[in-house]
Amino acid sequence: MRLDKLLANTGFGSRKDVKGLLKKKQVTVNDLVQKDGSVHVDPAKDIIIVNGKSVQYQKYLYIMLHKPQGCISATVDDKERTVVDLLSESHQHFNPFPVGRLDKDTEGLLLLTNDGELAHQLTSPKKKIKKTYAARVSGLVTDEDIVLFKRGIVLEDGYKTKPAELIILQAGDISEIELTITEGKYHQVKRMFEAVGKKVTYLKRLSMGELQLDGTLIKGEYRELTEEELSYCLSLKKEKS
Ligand code: URA
Repeated sequence: MRLDKLLANTGFGSRKDVKGLLKKKQVTVNDLVQKDGSVHVDPAKDIIIVNGKSVQYQKYLYIMLHKPQGCISATVDDKERTVVDLLSESHQHFNPFPVGRLDKDTEGLLLLTNDGELAHQLTSPKKKIKKTYAARVSGLVTDEDIVLFKRGIVLEDGYKTKPAELIILQAGDISEIELTITEGKYHQVKRMFEAVGKKVTYLKRLSMGELQLDGTLIKGEYRELTEEELSYCLSLKKEKS
């Protein structure tokens, strides 16, 4: 890959910043000063040093975001703020995209990565990855709903959902629940409640597989996955092969 692209992707600033570093002879490739950003380097083999610091190439980026309401699960949009807009420039350089979608008014756990294979494993219906949501629902959620959701519920378009686990935390005119589903149909949680005559007024994703939303992240904040979270993700990729 191009040297300037590599440096921009590994946190040395914008392409313009990188140009400055090269011009000032601050970059060496295999002990030779390199001023030309267009030269191709192999990050796995070549030793690249910037101001005495060796460049560690990272191909993939794995981010846990506490998605706030008001932004859409997309990479770019003409009108709306996207989840990628919440990331710093150095993270955006990796071209991350959201793994699955949360609605504009849904908040909570969203994974962003540039690892297409992992995204596929986490969203493939075959994998049946559990996703747990907390919701506030307008209307009394009952034990009968628990049974209906467990059996699978027919949505307005005729689709029958896979068994889902509903836990009622508080029942009343406004109910508080947790729901775990293993698929990701469009507006699925909202449509499941609509099918039993109730309306979701607040929705937050708490977990996806073994990834739990980090309670220290405030809305809009994000961090890279920990070693443990990453090894779970990589195990999903391995299972496939
Ligand atoms: N189900 C929904 O209805 N919306 C979401 O954002 C996620 C799951």
